[in-house]
Amino acid sequence: MAPLSHGVVQAMEEAARLKATPWDFKPADFFSVCEHFRARAAKLAGTDTENLAIVPSVSYALAVAARNLSFQPGQQIVTLANQFPSNIYVWRKLAQERQGTIVTVQRDKESAWTDAVIEAIGEDTGIVALPHCHWADGRVVDLEKVGEKCRAVGAALVLDLTQSLGAMPIDLAKVQPDFAVAACYKWMMGPYGIGLLYVDPRHHGGEPIEYNWINRGGSEDFARLVDYRDDFQPGARRFDMGEKSNPPQLLGASAGIDFLLEFGVEQIARTLLAKTQAIADQAAAIGLSAADPAHRAPHFLSLGLGPEMVEGLPERLAEKQIYVSVRGNSLRVTPHLYNDEADSAALIEALRQ
Ligand SMILES: Cc1ncc(COP(=O)(O)O)c(C=O)c1O
Repeated sequence: MAPLSHGVVQAMEEAARLKATPWDFKPADFFSVCEHFRARAAKLAGTDTENLAIVPSVSYALAVAARNLSFQPGQQIVTLANQFPSNIYVWRKLAQERQGTIVTVQRDKESAWTDAVIEAIGEDTGIVALPHCHWADGRVVDLEKVGEKCRAVGAALVLDLTQSLGAMPIDLAKVQPDFAVAACYKWMMGPYGIGLLYVDPRHHGGEPIEYNWINRGGSEDFARLVDYRDDFQPGARRFDMGEKSNPPQLLGASAGIDFLLEFGVEQIARTLLAKTQAIADQAAAIGLSAADPAHRAPHFLSLGLGPEMVEGLPERLAEKQIYVSVRGNSLRVTPHLYNDEADSAALIEALRQ
């Protein structure tokens, strides 16, 4: 969970107050709050607003993807070892329903995931479901190379960018995924319960997983909602979640994106790489190893610990107001722009002790 900036908190508070006088929230506002968020999200993701749907979670978005991808009996779904569960369970279910299999890619100890993923994709691959960097170890997948391989074998590419969008640049036009989702509450510095789903134009005619009124054509006219219609709002909007017009979520998430765009994602990535590498260098001096910066995401540092060191460590660090996570035998350290050298020094000193 990223902390919320003052700007995001203020936007959410003001947006929550809109419901105190609902008569001032006009039918057109149900749409404008969504389009405000969609425009901010499109800018961050470097895509067109038409390609984005508003979703509550990664699991919801991936259910949309699973519903709309062709997957034949005997085909495979490629994933990473220890991938985040919301990007696993949906594929296990699909594989079970359609007599397919899951391929779990393992990586070489010292490298990124790319080579192993590319090797795992073949003629039998139906879907490749990946993150941009692993949520536990921060090691990267070169998505442009993977996208190329997917196209060569006719496999669909589905991405969970929750641990990267906002902190790590991505060029969706080059990667060409079928679907890509990011929850807003981590590196997008926004609230919980909202995310964006990129839907490639080739799936814009697809089937949503729920049948919401406002996503239908002509829903702008509240007086005629029971003139039931089969057509949808344009682009990816048919996949928007029900009750999407939720100002605290939408305007809070938009403010989180504005916070990031003030600096730009490339600059954030450069700055966070410098911060994490400075920590890695100091950690090396006290015997803690980290991945080569060429193999890891700029914002994501994973320090190798002995199992004897892990026990109770996050709690002991939290007593010193140092907040990190343990994943397996690694300490996940993810500073952001709000952290300074004194914070890094405090972490290293606490680890040294
Ligand atoms: C990579 C990744 N994807 C997704 C999520 C959240 O999934 P959901 O939105 O389904 O709760 C997390 C949360 O830690 C995550 O790390």
